[in-house]
Amino acid sequence: MNDAPIDARDASIRGTVLVIDDDEQIRRLIVSLIGPMGHVLKEAASAEEGLEKLREEPPDLVLLDMQLPGRSGHDVLKEIRADPRSRLIPVVMITGAATHERKLKAIEAGVTDFLGKPFSPEELVARVRALMELKLVTDALEDAEQVIIALARTIDARDRYTYGHSARVSLYASLLGERVGLERRVLATVRQGALFHDFGKIAIRDAVLLKPGKLTNEEYAEIKGHPREGRDLLQNMKTLAQAMPVVYHHHERMDGSGYPDGLSGHGIPIAARVTTIADVFDALTTARVYRGALSREETLGIMLEEVRKGWWDGRLLDEFRAVLETLPLDDARILRLSAGPSSL
Ligand SMILES: [Fe+2]
Ligand SMILES: [Fe+2]
Repeated sequence: MNDAPIDARDASIRGTVLVIDDDEQIRRLIVSLIGPMGHVLKEAASAEEGLEKLREEPPDLVLLDMQLPGRSGHDVLKEIRADPRSRLIPVVMITGAATHERKLKAIEAGVTDFLGKPFSPEELVARVRALMELKLVTDALEDAEQVIIALARTIDARDRYTYGHSARVSLYASLLGERVGLERRVLATVRQGALFHDFGKIAIRDAVLLKPGKLTNEEYAEIKGHPREGRDLLQNMKTLAQAMPVVYHHHERMDGSGYPDGLSGHGIPIAARVTTIADVFDALTTARVYRGALSREETLGIMLEEVRKGWWDGRLLDEFRAVLETLPLDDARILRLSAGPSSL
């Protein structure tokens, strides 16, 4: 077996392929064919061994026999897709005389491609090459997303009064979205959009963003530019495209008196309306430089007044009240998000 200790750095540069097949001859053949491509090769003779190697160090590509003794290739595939560390790894299923039904099952479970036995060496090499390149792109995107999330945290961290604001808004908005039965895609927009809703504040000067006193008209106009700035900063990032309706529209009001577009009523995307409720609630229930934190009841009272003025979606506020009943003040998630950065 090709299991000599490998240098982790070396593996990350060359990429790792894991071959899971109980047939030693097939493994030998695959290894001899793709060996010259220069990747680090690992082998496993059973589903259990394969899963163990996956857990040790997620590879960049898995070649997986569909018919393994004991736990099947389908089981392995499901576990790969269920684990956040391995869910994006391309998996090619090596199939003998697989039925249509079994192939369908694999597609549903998230297989990347099939390779029928017997396969031609050229076909195997071409598949491996294409998928290893694809994995490089996926990794780069994942890295980019991590960078963006780190950046999003810096917005909250700039101001100790708003520390944890975006993460709490995301939590409240997701719970509200689930309660009102938003579909999965819209929920993803809410979750991600809420996390990045104030991203555009990155472009606002400290002197304005952190000013304790009253803002001048110009300064207020600068603050009001943050949804537009957020859109401009994020619009070229495919991974965050779904967050856009929330980033851009979270300051709209039901009566059209909000910004940036003055949308009204149901013309405001539902993901944005849900996030706005969470945003206003969190802003009022946490301390600001110019006032202390308000209680939940005081906050809901003020927000109800604002619903009557025509600002927020009253139905959503009612539902949010019900969400709060299930969310105690000392909920572990809220406490953790409000603990503050240890460096401050
Ligand atoms: Fe905002
Ligand atoms: Fe906000």
